[in-house]
Amino acid sequence: MKFFVDTADTDAIAELNDLGMVDGVTTNPSLILKAGRDILEVTKEICEMVAGPVSAEVVATEADAMIAEGRKLARIAPNIAVKVPLTWDGLKACKTLTDEGSMVNVTLCFSANQALLAAKAGATFISPFIGRLDDINLDGMELIADIRTIYDNYDFQTEILAASIRSPNHVLDAARIGADVATVPPGVLKKLADHPLTEKGLETFLSDWAKTGQKIL
Ligand code: E4P
Repeated sequence: MKFFVDTADTDAIAELNDLGMVDGVTTNPSLILKAGRDILEVTKEICEMVAGPVSAEVVATEADAMIAEGRKLARIAPNIAVKVPLTWDGLKACKTLTDEGSMVNVTLCFSANQALLAAKAGATFISPFIGRLDDINLDGMELIADIRTIYDNYDFQTEILAASIRSPNHVLDAARIGADVATVPPGVLKKLADHPLTEKGLETFLSDWAKTGQKIL
């Protein structure tokens, strides 16, 4: 499973990138607001740090304007994935931009039929939002499983990018189902390493080691 980091915070990306955990980055207008940076400037900086796909989202709602914004974003760097919403205009923009050779991430996916349309429009990535479905008492993980089944049935090459991940269990369940990518907020990604038995075991080893009086270096 590839890990994308779901943030426009360059310090957080750099820290995880140094650990070799970053296969790509996703941003959206809310994350750009949170970062308080200019979209073109911060996206360029992220693209220079990370070798994998960096999603940058259009904000137009009509296809021609989305395509124009997408072309501008795609010029930032070769590893840009233009993010478009799952509307008919977004799907039209997806088809045009992928035909031109850009990577496209179709976002705000909340149903398997929407994911089917995105694959048919040639999307590089489909972003089903797990957490936001769970928030309204639906089952985000069931959506990931349905999309996996449908894409495998027809050998669609669109990658399933599990998004709106809120917990380590979301990552685990998406990995079990076979999502190709999880885009994870930095705080959740860091939690993946936590286990109380690891902490407890390390504490015991260190205290026993101190009693040996030895040193390795
Ligand atoms: C990723 O591409 C999405 O923009 C992001 O995962 C949304 O997450 P949220 O529902 O926590 O805002």
